[in-house]
Amino acid sequence: MQAISEARPLQGKVAVVTGAGRGIGRAIAMGYAKAGATVVCCARSAGEIDETVALVTAAGGTAMARCADVADLASLQALFALTVQRFGGVDIVVGNAGVNGPRGTVEDVDPVRWAAAIQTNLVGAFHTAHAAIPHLRARGSGKIIFIGSGMRKAAVAGTSAYAASKIGLWKLTEVLGVELQQYNISVNELIPGPVKTGMTAFGKRPFPEGEWVKEPEDLVPLALFLATQPDVGPTAQSFSLMRRAG
Ligand SMILES: NC(=O)c1ccc[n+]([C@@H]2O[C@H](COP(=O)([O-])OP(=O)(O)OC[C@H]3O[C@@H](n4cnc5c(N)ncnc54)[C@H](OP(=O)(O)O)[C@@H]3O)[C@@H](O)[C@H]2O)c1
Repeated sequence: MQAISEARPLQGKVAVVTGAGRGIGRAIAMGYAKAGATVVCCARSAGEIDETVALVTAAGGTAMARCADVADLASLQALFALTVQRFGGVDIVVGNAGVNGPRGTVEDVDPVRWAAAIQTNLVGAFHTAHAAIPHLRARGSGKIIFIGSGMRKAAVAGTSAYAASKIGLWKLTEVLGVELQQYNISVNELIPGPVKTGMTAFGKRPFPEGEWVKEPEDLVPLALFLATQPDVGPTAQSFSLMRRAG
């Protein structure tokens, strides 16, 4: 019995992963399902999350796909309500959905696209937590894991939308961690470093020198670590897979 629970540390848990249609979100959804969790996969487009669910099912896991746009609070509230109705509760929330945002200096960038990136990466993470908290509290404990970025520590011309969204996400992580500590709900940030996904247009743009360039699956051990910490475990912390200091 011990071997089974060690191999499936998330058995009996229900996880919601935003942006689970491809890239990092899909890898975490697959990793959690293999660890025994029931996984609810969301993204704006149906085709890719259906594919993620098919991959989970083929591997012997349980998953459900549901379209939701994190920029729209109502669609996330509906997602969590359906999750609780179908699976009885929510234990783990991975706020992963994100976009690269427009490139361009503050002077030249399209203001509408700039605001849209903030709406997805930062306001979307707030919506995800806001919609999830009542259900996590009802469960008596829980984990929120936000996928941050090392870009929040850098100042690279032309990247203000993405960088501002991710530094805001980090402050959201810290404050929310403090707010939810009393309810046994931890809130932590996972910084992936460069990962070969559609977002990074792998092969078309160089990655920073000296970095560990990862496959999405390389994030799964850290995502599992954060999902399996005890209720008194770390909260309001940042966990990074980068090699650069600072
Ligand atoms: N790749 C990297 O090197 C890297 C490094 C550091 C941090 N990150 C972060 O990791 C996260 C995932 O990135 P990725 O590289 O895996 O990107 P990706 O391959 O482009 O996947 C992004 C996922 O998010 C979904 N999504 C985008 N906007 C959404 C919205 N408004 N509502 C719901 N779902 C939405 C996408 O599906 P739809 O388009 O169908 O909605 C897709 O499933 C992002 O937060 C990103 O900032 C990535």
